[in-house]
Amino acid sequence: MTKQLPHADVAVVGGGVIGLAVAWRARQRGLEVVLVEREASLGRGASYAAAGMLAPVGEADPQERALLAHNLESARRWSSFADELRDVTGVDVGYRTCGALLVARDADEASHVEREREQRERLGLRVERLLGSEARRREPALAPGVRLALELPDDHAVEPARVVAALAEACRRAGVEIVTGREVSDPRSIPTERVVLAAGAWSGAPVRPVKGQALRLRDPAGPGLCDHVLRFEGGYLVPRGDGRYYLGATVEEQGFDTSVTALGVYELLREAAEVIPGVLELEIEEAFAGLRPGTPDNAPIVGTDPADERIVWATGHFRNGILLTPLTAELVADELTGGRPDHALRPERFAVGATT
Ligand code: GLY
Repeated sequence: MTKQLPHADVAVVGGGVIGLAVAWRARQRGLEVVLVEREASLGRGASYAAAGMLAPVGEADPQERALLAHNLESARRWSSFADELRDVTGVDVGYRTCGALLVARDADEASHVEREREQRERLGLRVERLLGSEARRREPALAPGVRLALELPDDHAVEPARVVAALAEACRRAGVEIVTGREVSDPRSIPTERVVLAAGAWSGAPVRPVKGQALRLRDPAGPGLCDHVLRFEGGYLVPRGDGRYYLGATVEEQGFDTSVTALGVYELLREAAEVIPGVLELEIEEAFAGLRPGTPDNAPIVGTDPADERIVWATGHFRNGILLTPLTAELVADELTGGRPDHALRPERFAVGATT
């Protein structure tokens, strides 16, 4: 099977945003690249299910300093990455500098939000504390019961489906060979000089699938329900700016199960409606589940396999795959062109080679 692949210097296994961006950057550096995707079309895994939040501040955890540093660095790159994709392909990836509001509905959640504020301030991240009335002035559809919110002005969003379309077009224009509908059972059997493992939840240990159920919603009346990303206990609502919304997401350790359950959908809608009741007026376009590629420390695995110089890991991006796409692509392109960038995401921390 793999011997039928076109000749190349590098094979990228996985046609989601990470694999596509790596393939594009590697081709720009002069390498011959073939990208292999198991599904019939590109971006059908975590990239399809992702909300597209660029949320280094909302996702910040003081226990995950290395991840935070990489998330911040990649967030800084997104604006020019989006511009470059538009210039090269004509595709607008829907980059919105919308900011986010982290919302508290009751006293317990308000104490939690206060702790989140202190932690982020200690980390040097920009946050603004808003009383309920001020939060409602900025987002009038918020429920009267919202008592406190944190504005996170540096968290933004893109549309993953458009990012996939733009990257696929950029790859084609650059001359990346794209092979879809081809399952790779053993990436090490591909006879190219280097093989990039960008197969998301299907990458193998120590990567594991973490299920997320979510909804795509639409307001037939057009935009206006909210402008910020709204984050709350149990989920988040991401406005696209044109009347479409993404409501996500459950976090479930269920292996490779991608069923959509009544309970999952009910809980997402119940939590969201307590924050912004107008969400119940929206039409449901799609209910779906995807698989985040989780790792033991929630940070991705990026770099050459310590036990096999041919293999380069570019996977395990868990909750931050869209955000980390520009940075991961550069780090992997460096690796493929002889560099060995010094960073905290390298595979050595899991001794991955020992098990393969
Ligand atoms: N990026 C948010 C999530 O994975 O649910």
